Amino acid sequence: MAGRIPQGFIDELVSRSDIVEIIGARVALKKSGREFKACCPFHNEKTPSFWVSPDKQFYHCFGCGAHGTVVGFLMQYEKLSFIEALEDLAQRAGLELPGGSHESANAPGFDLHQVLGQAAQFFAQNLQDSERARAYITRRGIESHTAKKFLLGYATESWNALLNRFGQQPADRERLQLAGLVIERERKAGERDPGFYDRFRDRLMFPIRDSRGRIMGFGGRVLDQGEPKYLNSPETPLFHKGRELYGLYEAKQARNDFRRVIVVEGYMDVVRLHQAGITYALATLGTATTQEHLNRIFRLTSEVVFCFDGDRAGRQAAWRALENALPLARDGRELRFLFLPEGEDPDSLVGKEGQQAFEARMDRAMPLSEYLVAQLVQQTDLSHADGRARLAALARPLFGRMPDGVLRELIADALAEQIRMPADRLRHLLQDANTPSTAAGARPPRGPGTSGPSPSPHPDSRMKSGRRNMLSQAIGLVLHFPTAARSIDTASIARIDHPGIPVLRELIEQARQVQAPSTATLLERWRDRPELPRLEAIAAETPMVSDSQAAARELEMAVRKLAQDLGPGRRTDELLKKARETGLNSDEKTELGLLLKGRTRQGPDA
Ligand code: UTP
Ligand code: MN
Repeated sequence: MAGRIPQGFIDELVSRSDIVEIIGARVALKKSGREFKACCPFHNEKTPSFWVSPDKQFYHCFGCGAHGTVVGFLMQYEKLSFIEALEDLAQRAGLELPGGSHESANAPGFDLHQVLGQAAQFFAQNLQDSERARAYITRRGIESHTAKKFLLGYATESWNALLNRFGQQPADRERLQLAGLVIERERKAGERDPGFYDRFRDRLMFPIRDSRGRIMGFGGRVLDQGEPKYLNSPETPLFHKGRELYGLYEAKQARNDFRRVIVVEGYMDVVRLHQAGITYALATLGTATTQEHLNRIFRLTSEVVFCFDGDRAGRQAAWRALENALPLARDGRELRFLFLPEGEDPDSLVGKEGQQAFEARMDRAMPLSEYLVAQLVQQTDLSHADGRARLAALARPLFGRMPDGVLRELIADALAEQIRMPADRLRHLLQDANTPSTAAGARPPRGPGTSGPSPSPHPDSRMKSGRRNMLSQAIGLVLHFPTAARSIDTASIARIDHPGIPVLRELIEQARQVQAPSTATLLERWRDRPELPRLEAIAAETPMVSDSQAAARELEMAVRKLAQDLGPGRRTDELLKKARETGLNSDEKTELGLLLKGRTRQGPDA
């Protein structure tokens, strides 16, 4: 994603933003020396272990290990996506996000948000004006404050109400079409401009907002009978059904702590649950729960309850959700399945029972492990050895999708008990078949907001231990004192093919490129790369020196040492060349002497 926004712009944004100001607006910071401290907003604590460094433009919690740049903070604290965090900062800095391809940054995207917003206001006004539509929402148990909160509206029974109101110019009509609000008529032979008609007619309108409240699309329900019951906006530049969650913006507005989230199937379910006080309800838009959905949800919370109707379709949807959720079922995450009695949905049930009883159902919902085992057992006849083998066979691909962890072990144990097979043997059976796919399926979502093990190998994890320290130290020096790094000549390590060296070189190069480099501007350049978690961890460490001059000296020494150790003969050649051409000073003579000695000891290729 970051690739689409020019790096220079991100540099500019990060250096124009003040992390102390941005965190300070959300967390009570106290000055302490050169830094600021507070009780960590990401875990519960009574004594402050959360530090914000204005020099590094970086925050770090010694309690829970949360750390990152201002962008990372907004992502983690405000649950924003990377782009959204940038938009936030850009808005503060009075800048426009550049880059054509990003949906909300390009000009038509901006226009589309605007036209969708106008349409929503128009529909909302229609609802006020239509007795029939108002009677319908009353009959559905929706109170007027709820209708306002969700900006519910009504599209009148007309082929061109919206078109006439907002589609005066040809360009306007095209925009309406791009926004998915009107449809082009079929052309008959010889006709030049066949015109358009309103997509939504005689429907109760549910605006679908992005996490910042801008309208991306609509769902529209027929008032009486009619097909389809719900009509949704088509895919547009702003609207992608497999990604969006209805109710997300409203849930955020409700200032939830997002201890958990419940995922339901329908618009009406979300609206009524929120009205009943369950303001952490979200719905997919008539699609299965995708991994994209789940990644967004796990940015908010680690506890998800999937809620499905008790009918066959509901059970099918539940199984699909389970399959998609397995790769994300990391330890520390809790996924549960709530099945409602046949004939009920959350909307009807919460209407009858109220918040408490409904929440009690959630508390009793079935853990993923139990649901998975129960489903498998149901499909097999365990009284025969055949059936037990079949169960193991059914379980194998599912296991292959799960990350290593306690949950997987738990499920293996539960299955072993069912098959009456020693747990170790079953585990072996399941593991063997899946070693490759396990690794592939177990990639957790990216981003600093996600806790847990890092998905990527450390840049220097393959390094031999001695160099590893030197290299990490050098990387740390660049991250902590980017200005010091600007004077460092990397020619001596330019051609060293050793894991981690290219990272160091690139960092030094970046420190030179950025106008006023800080820890944060450098880190943001690694946002989409597997090295980021490791670099952030290094940035969070205490610097080994306290000022830029010392850092420059240390760094120069470290680079020289790395070149010497890893670049066989390179430094020696350099010194020999210099000795021939201009002569050496006394330090260099000593160095050359040492190098030559080492060389004879280790052989020319050491
Ligand atoms: P349901 O048919 O279960 O409807 O569809 P519901 O949510 O209970 O709605 P009410 O109570 O009858 O008003 C669940 C969800 O599936 C999608 C919609 O997102 C809907 O909210 N759906 C359903 C469609 O997209 N199109 C349809 O024709 C039907
Ligand atoms: Mn319903």
